[in-house]
Amino acid sequence: RLLIIDFGSQVTQLIARRLRELKVYCEIHPFNKVDAAFLKDFAPRAVIFSGGPASVYAEGAPMPPAGVFDLGVPILGICYGQQVMMHCLGGHVEGGHGTAEFGRAYVTPTAERLPLLDGWFESGTEQVWMSHGDHVSKIAPGFQVFGTSPNAPFAITADPSRNFYAVQFHPEVHHTPKGAKLYENFVKLAGFKGDWTMASYREDAIAKIREQVGDKKVICALSGGVDSSVAAILIHEAIGAQLTCVFVDHGLLRLNEAQEVVKMFREAYNLPLIHADESDLFLGALEGVSDPEVKRKTIGKLFIDVFDKHAKAIGGAEFLAQGTLYPDVIESVSFAGGPSVTIKSHHNVGGLPEKMGMKLVEPLRELFKDEVRALGRELGLPEHFIRRHPFPGPGLAIRCPGEITREKLDILRHADAVYIDQIRKHGLYDEIWQAFAAILPMRTVGVMGDGRTYDFAVGLRAVTSVDGMTADYYPFTHEFMGETVTRIINEVKGVNRVFYDCTSKPPGTIELE
Ligand code: XMP
Repeated sequence: RLLIIDFGSQVTQLIARRLRELKVYCEIHPFNKVDAAFLKDFAPRAVIFSGGPASVYAEGAPMPPAGVFDLGVPILGICYGQQVMMHCLGGHVEGGHGTAEFGRAYVTPTAERLPLLDGWFESGTEQVWMSHGDHVSKIAPGFQVFGTSPNAPFAITADPSRNFYAVQFHPEVHHTPKGAKLYENFVKLAGFKGDWTMASYREDAIAKIREQVGDKKVICALSGGVDSSVAAILIHEAIGAQLTCVFVDHGLLRLNEAQEVVKMFREAYNLPLIHADESDLFLGALEGVSDPEVKRKTIGKLFIDVFDKHAKAIGGAEFLAQGTLYPDVIESVSFAGGPSVTIKSHHNVGGLPEKMGMKLVEPLRELFKDEVRALGRELGLPEHFIRRHPFPGPGLAIRCPGEITREKLDILRHADAVYIDQIRKHGLYDEIWQAFAAILPMRTVGVMGDGRTYDFAVGLRAVTSVDGMTADYYPFTHEFMGETVTRIINEVKGVNRVFYDCTSKPPGTIELE
């Protein structure tokens, strides 16, 4: 496996993505958590130093761990990683006025060939993406220059005898079109075969779960989302009846969702599943509540209580299974410090392990979202299930601004079902990152037949996004909009008006609350 030492770059995760695409297993660890003992234990076959915002001359500048240059394995330094490598190995870095460079640059090769650059420079120069304040002004002994750009005379440097490579630009970003090729060459030089597949991940994960859990019981909160579903199926494959899943039905699910999830997991997967129908409890507690944060906290707390109750009822379990993903695990390296503002208190089962004194089983900790989907396919989950849009833990509660009533939830469920049906019929479901209906906290006047109506308004939302952090509204055609609005008003009793939300994120958020 390959070790990525993170010096705090915004794009460190992309390095991992590029390597995983090459079927090479890698892990990101922050520079301040990697010491000599860690290196010995991890035994990397190759190491990459990420970029980072610091200057090697700043006080407390991040440094690589002692002994990393003596491991005898290939090392690739990127941007700050290059600078810190030169600094440690006897070169020189300069900062200050006029050395910063951001954006597109063109690198030209020098006379010498370097296997790291196989496939590069076929048409003379290569476009790369630069983003740096300081730059290397003298390379370390043993290093040679293999590529230069007008502002970076040491754009590509290497000491081929030691397999040390250092580049000033970011090969992991899309604006360095041949970047993936550079990584491919690097992992080849390091002797990786590129044989890390989901089938091998599945086997390893099952062995690890068995080793961790032994003959103890595991309990899992199954939401019906892809992550918890894949985790549950994998654990079930490993330990069978030692696993119990609890599906907490808070009465805020979509039309027929509870029945579908329960049926699929009981029938197709034979999972031991408790269907905890607690809608009266949740909807009772939410009566009269209209503040979004109070709603979220009420649901979060009840969720933990209900889960706890069922966990006790099955005679106690020592382990709690969670579908935690890699992006949640990677510790970010922060120099600026300072807490960020809470926009929304996210509902998750994060409070459970502390409250229940349980140990965690997290078989997806090493995976990115699309890899979890690939694992889901490997485990035979149906494609329509794997491709489902994300659904928030607090469910329809946050799509019903203002007070929640059963009447409103029923209207919302039906409007949402018609809307999603339209999207599927028009073949747009997979193009859209997330789509849903919301019920707005108002009634408006309309006319239907010859009569006056005074009914609810529905808001429709559909966004494109990569990770939910930013989003843009989906540009439906007028024909689609017209047909959908007509269908919702005709088919859903209690609705006489429909709005489409064209707000991006930021300034909006995806959900309404
Ligand atoms: P926002 O509304 O914050 O949503 O732009 C971003 C993404 O997160 C989902 N979301 C949640 N997911 N628990 C979850 O598991 C939550 O409490 C929660 N709140 C929002 C939302 O559906 C969108 O995909």
